[in-house]
Formats: sequence, C-alpha cells, structure tokens
Amino acid sequence: MPAPARPAPDRATSLLDEAAGITETALERFLPGETVEPVRLHRAMRYSVFAGGKRLRPALALSAFRMVQSARSRPAGSPGDHERLLAAMASVELLHTYTLIHDDLPAMDDDDLRRGRPTCHRAFDEATAILAGDALQCLAFGTAALVGLQAVLVLSAAAGSLGVVGGQQDDCDATAHWQRRLADPATPLHQDAALIAALERIHRRKTAALISASCQLGAMAAGCDEATRERLGAFGEAIGLAFQIADDILDQTATSHDLGKTAGKDAAQGKLTYVAVYGLEAAHRQATAHLDQALLALAGDSPHADALVELAGFVVRRRN
Ligand code: IPE
Ligand code: IPE
Ligand code: MG
Ligand code: MG
Ligand code: MG
Repeated sequence: MPAPARPAPDRATSLLDEAAGITETALERFLPGETVEPVRLHRAMRYSVFAGGKRLRPALALSAFRMVQSARSRPAGSPGDHERLLAAMASVELLHTYTLIHDDLPAMDDDDLRRGRPTCHRAFDEATAILAGDALQCLAFGTAALVGLQAVLVLSAAAGSLGVVGGQQDDCDATAHWQRRLADPATPLHQDAALIAALERIHRRKTAALISASCQLGAMAAGCDEATRERLGAFGEAIGLAFQIADDILDQTATSHDLGKTAGKDAAQGKLTYVAVYGLEAAHRQATAHLDQALLALAGDSPHADALVELAGFVVRRRN
C-alpha cells in the first residue's frame, strides 16, 4: 500500500489551534485553582501549564481519537468517550509540562527561558519547581486513570526509567561521556556505531516515548483495538524521533525569541544531538526519513488518518 502523500502546509496549524482550545478546557478541569493551598505550589503548576506551548501531544491524542471513531461504521461516540478524550489530552500535556520544568532545572539543562517566560525555578524557586513537576506528574497519572488502566500502564512505561526519565539520565550522562569524542572526530562521528546507538536511544526515550503514548492514549479513549494501538504507537515513535531531531536543528538555527527558550544551548553544553553528529543537512534528512516511516505505519488508515498525517508533516517543518 502506498504511503499517504506529504501534507500541505496549513491544516496542521488549524488542527493545533483547535486542539489547544480543547486542551485549555481539559487542563482547567483537572488542575487545582491558584487560590487552593499550598498557593505557591498551585501557582507554579499553573504558571508552567498555562504558559502556552504548541500542545502537540494533546493534538495527537485528539487526532488519534478521531481516527478510531471515524473508522467505525457508526462514528458518533458516547458522552463517556468525550470525557475520556479530555482526560487523555490533559494527561499527556500535564506529564509533558512536568518534564519541561525538571529539564530546565540547574541540575539538568539549567535554562532560564521556557515557553517565552522565565523558567519555573526562576519565576518561583528551585524547590517549588521540583515539587510542581512532581505534582504535575501525579496529576497526569490520576487523569490517565480516567481513560482506563491500560492508559496508565502505557503512560507509566513512557514516563519511567525505560522512557523519559531514563532518556534524561542518558542525556545527562552522554554530555560528559561523549564530549571529548564530539570535539575530536578522529573517525567521522556518524560512523561510530556506539555513539549513534546512544544518540538514538536517548531521543527514543526522552521524547519519542511520550509522543507515542499520546497517540495511544487518544486512541484508547475511543476504545481502539490492540492492533490499532500498536500501529499508532509505531507512528508516534517515528514522529517523536523526527520531532527531537527537529528540536536539535532548531536549537542551532532558530532564535530564542522564536523558540521561547534559549537557542544555542546544545552546542554550548556539549549535548549529544543529531546536529552535533550528522550536521544540519544530514540531520534534516534523518528527520524526513523518520517522517516517511511514520506515514508508512498509517498507510492503511487513510483517509481516517489525515489529521495525523498533517501533524506529522508539521513536526519536521515547524519553526518553533
Ligand atoms: C519541548 O517540547 C521538549 C522536547 C521534547 C524537545 P515542545 O517543543 O513540544 O514544547 P512546547 O510544549 O511547545 O512548549
Ligand atoms: C528534553 O530535550 C526532552 C524532555 C524530556 C523535556 P531538550 O532538553 O532538548 O528539550 P528543550 O530543548 O530544553 O525543550
Ligand atoms: Mg534536556
Ligand atoms: Mg532542555
Ligand atoms: Mg532541545
């Protein structure tokens, strides 16, 4: 079966806008208000969650949900389906926001700017930022439970030591481990099998795992079968890799103003990235190859997968 054609530019933006509106409602439903004690903690959680952000992960959950619904002979879902969708969308964004807060901490990437404003630990303090991240993670799992037990299991696998947390550990360790190698390319870096394996594993875990889980949670909210969940998981994993490669490229090519976070940090901190190993052009080709892989995973789902195909295209061509 041929892969669906490459997407045209603009539909992804309107999909993201629509998903962002639904996401705000969903998040508002689950997050405690900022007058609830401890006020400082709830203000910090809300400060980071409502700072904007592309809301890509909820948009993927929404599009996966719709794909499953529209592939049915009777697409209309029950009110319960809609409630589970809101829970799935909120859950992946809450988990994602926690990872951003912790990623920015002085002990990790030590960043001052996120989503166009001072990072959580800068706006509040380090202890509050750690606790806000902890609480958002707890809330993410509680919210995933409203989708179902399997959603909790999928999110937990994506978030834990074999997912985001493990990827972040490897990312931190790789910075020290590969720094000399990166600075002294005796053999071309892209021919170093151990280095490439480490790089891909980091990106798979720290970023692709949650993007894959986002697609799966959306589909599970609509009551998908196991084969569909696996297909969407593979699609999400492939676009997740493309997403992190694009992030590495943007770190070097975009401005802090456009990104809403400090540009040029990866090279300054000696991070093991696709750009460091392959250079900009070859990194872009790698991202495109993962995009093609993603489109192939859903080749049999056209036209129900059209929105997901649009979002996949956005992942590679985005500017922030
Ligand atoms: C940033 O994710 C962290 C990475 C996994 C690279 P996003 O680029 O999706 O951040 P927001 O949600 O739009 O702020
Ligand atoms: C972080 O990757 C991925 C996460 C788990 C948050 P990066 O460190 O490259 O993300 P940015 O560039 O700070 O958003
Ligand atoms: Mg990082
Ligand atoms: Mg970072
Ligand atoms: Mg980055």
